[in-house]
Amino acid sequence: MTTSSDNSIPVEPINLEQALQVALEACKLAATEIKQHFANQQKTFLTKSTIIDMVTQTDKHVEELVTQHLQNAYPTHTIIGEECNTNTTLSPNGYSWIIDPIDGTTNFVHRNPNVCTSIGLAYCGSIVMGVVHNPILDETFYAIKGKGSFQKTAFTQQKFERNIISTCKQVSESLLSSNYPYGRTEDILGLCEKKYAAFLRMGCHGIRGCGSAVINLCYVANGSLDAYFENGIQIWDMAAGKIIVEEAGGIVCDPTDLEVPESSLLQNHRCLASCTKELTIEMIQVLKKIESEHK
Ligand code: IPD
Repeated sequence: MTTSSDNSIPVEPINLEQALQVALEACKLAATEIKQHFANQQKTFLTKSTIIDMVTQTDKHVEELVTQHLQNAYPTHTIIGEECNTNTTLSPNGYSWIIDPIDGTTNFVHRNPNVCTSIGLAYCGSIVMGVVHNPILDETFYAIKGKGSFQKTAFTQQKFERNIISTCKQVSESLLSSNYPYGRTEDILGLCEKKYAAFLRMGCHGIRGCGSAVINLCYVANGSLDAYFENGIQIWDMAAGKIIVEEAGGIVCDPTDLEVPESSLLQNHRCLASCTKELTIEMIQVLKKIESEHK
């Protein structure tokens, strides 16, 4: 691998199939650690941005293990991680790994099985590979740019098979997903409630919220959800899931604007992921109206 001293010249591309194997190995290391502590009913945690934004020793230790593994394989790459390397600037001319050691930390603390390790890889600021592994349910998802999107879950009898995204075209036939964010001001709660109420009134079949942004994205990719929307997420909550949805044929965009460029989308703390263009457009119209009227 070569690195460039001139920031305008991209470093030479790496073999993404190999990078995928390295990320899968890192997920295995994470899985051992997560499974070892998952059943403990008395987990201690600290809080971060708000009193419900939790972090455990396991989050930190898993991030160290994953970081170490990736750095051993790719010493010159940038590492971004939820707990330790929180500067979210992507390398403009090289590779950046984006790690969420445990997406679904609140679930982990409460022994709810919707927890996973998420590893995304960006090249020159654009996501090119993503791996998500839930060690409790033994579910794995991955995608490489241009090579399709895959899952190994109960749907596929635990073999890797292509994700089959839903063909749903309208809210009135959809199963949606979102989460209440860590910010719990009246303003934020009011906005969430307006959005949920609007989709429920339009006849969506339900609004789920599993407590892990990236699992929601993977479930859009495999067709068990039609769309997912959330404000208040971070780059590590969506990086890997974004390419897993896109390679399955879905759309990941800003909740009120289909045209926001990827560089902004990854840093804007919000996303809408949906299975078809028709459903995306219908949802954007609703979300845009609610956000503009709420101001
Ligand atoms: C959180 C989860 C949650 C979402 C939050 C995220 P964490 O990630 O993805 O579903 O609502 O915005 O921060 O803290 O469990 O890694």
